[in-house]
Amino acid sequence: MKHILNAKQFNKVDVEKILNSVPKMKEICETNKERPLEGKIVACVFFEPSTRTRLSFETAALRLGAQVISAEDASHNSSSHKGETIEDTTRTLSCYADIIVMRHHIVGAAEMAAKVATKSIVNAGDGANQHPSQGLLDLYTIQKEHGKLSGLSIAFVGDVLNSRTIHSLIPLLVLYGGNKFYFISPKELMIDSEFRNYLVDNKVDFEEINELDGVLPQVDVLYMTRVQKERFSNLADYEKVKDSFLLKKEHVEKLKSDAIIMHPLPRVNEIEPEIDQDSRAAYFRQAQNGLYVRMALLVHTLE
Ligand code: NCD
Repeated sequence: MKHILNAKQFNKVDVEKILNSVPKMKEICETNKERPLEGKIVACVFFEPSTRTRLSFETAALRLGAQVISAEDASHNSSSHKGETIEDTTRTLSCYADIIVMRHHIVGAAEMAAKVATKSIVNAGDGANQHPSQGLLDLYTIQKEHGKLSGLSIAFVGDVLNSRTIHSLIPLLVLYGGNKFYFISPKELMIDSEFRNYLVDNKVDFEEINELDGVLPQVDVLYMTRVQKERFSNLADYEKVKDSFLLKKEHVEKLKSDAIIMHPLPRVNEIEPEIDQDSRAAYFRQAQNGLYVRMALLVHTLE
């Protein structure tokens, strides 16, 4: 039994197996002939809001021939609302489903679930910590758009402190080496010491800066993020930083012609909508890739 809890659990062999099976997953969607997960049940239990992650996991399961049970607002509609623990919810779901895809606001929730689960747990986001399926789909997107995963210059912009998608993509990129990372944020949202130590221990080439314009002409990937309002205990602190980095047309004009703009979505106002027409805007292609990568991940989990 395999759990998918943290992007750091993957080695290059696993990652390449998953990424290389994406064309096959796309073919399964297009031809609708194969059902590799027929007879399986996937439970999607979400204690935090989601559009892409939950619905793409559910679509992935259905495209693979599995069936889906779902608690889309589990904080209110599951017995967690009555005080049930993550462990007891997991023990119960293990009686019903073959894979449990879980999103929770508590850091470490997926690991707590995995300790008692008798079926596979897939972490669909635990607080500001990890979101490994997003890391994989982001990695796939970079490979597809640039044809390589090393020798790239990548800027992460916005809430680099609280972004679980950044925390998940970086360890996957670190497997490939030779990349330069820029973390661009207001000073309140800079990476924390634990993550900085991880980067230093792994000899990652990175810079932390507080302004965007200077790096635009050199980056291959501009990875925008939403300021994670739900992680702030004080609304005034959020208000102070929420509009620190808004991407406008004049920024995009400074990018290289083959640079790409990514965003895990949802965006609030970090990317001006008229940028969507620019061919470098890759965020909806990224969301489409998410379906195929999650199909590949579900298959991998049950192998
Ligand atoms: C992200 C998340 O939930 O961490 N969304 C997603 O899964 N695509 C990013 C975000 O909510 O800002």
